[in-house]
Amino acid sequence: MSTSNGLFGLILIGFATTTLAVFKDCGSKEATVTKVLCNGQDSGPCQLKKGTDASLEIDFTSKTSQSQLTSVVHGILSGVPVPFSPTDTNACNGIVEKCPIAPNNNYSFKTSLPVKSIYPSLRLVVRWEIQDPSSTDVICIELPAEIVS
Ligand SMILES: *[C@@H]1O[C@H](CO)[C@@H](O)[C@H](O)[C@H]1NC(C)=O
Repeated sequence: MSTSNGLFGLILIGFATTTLAVFKDCGSKEATVTKVLCNGQDSGPCQLKKGTDASLEIDFTSKTSQSQLTSVVHGILSGVPVPFSPTDTNACNGIVEKCPIAPNNNYSFKTSLPVKSIYPSLRLVVRWEIQDPSSTDVICIELPAEIVS
């Protein structure tokens, strides 16, 4: 009984890993996120290769007008959020169509994530928030990731 349960568990884990949706919305209040790409991929954990810059793209439809947007980034390790300083906290600089953003329009936010060689190899969740000046999450996404050599 326990053997078959264990096997079933393994199969479930395998299934969950291969069909993992790349992002989870963690409370976007002023936008609808339509797509998240890590290194151009929209499935599987985001591969953060040491010594390289990973690319991140977040496509969204805005619900509000905003002219000032700030990126707040955390790496969540075993459930504990650790602040991460992005190269540029001004999220407007990553919006391809430029700020201000307006309701019911689609935008693409593109940025890169420097992966330092000294980082340990581990799995984590990257939480990327884009906030308005009142610190409300316009966007909040969580992305399963793994730091690899
Ligand atoms: C915005 O993107 C959504 C989803 O991809 C699409 O259905 C919609 O037509 C787009 N709207 C505009 C204004 O381009």
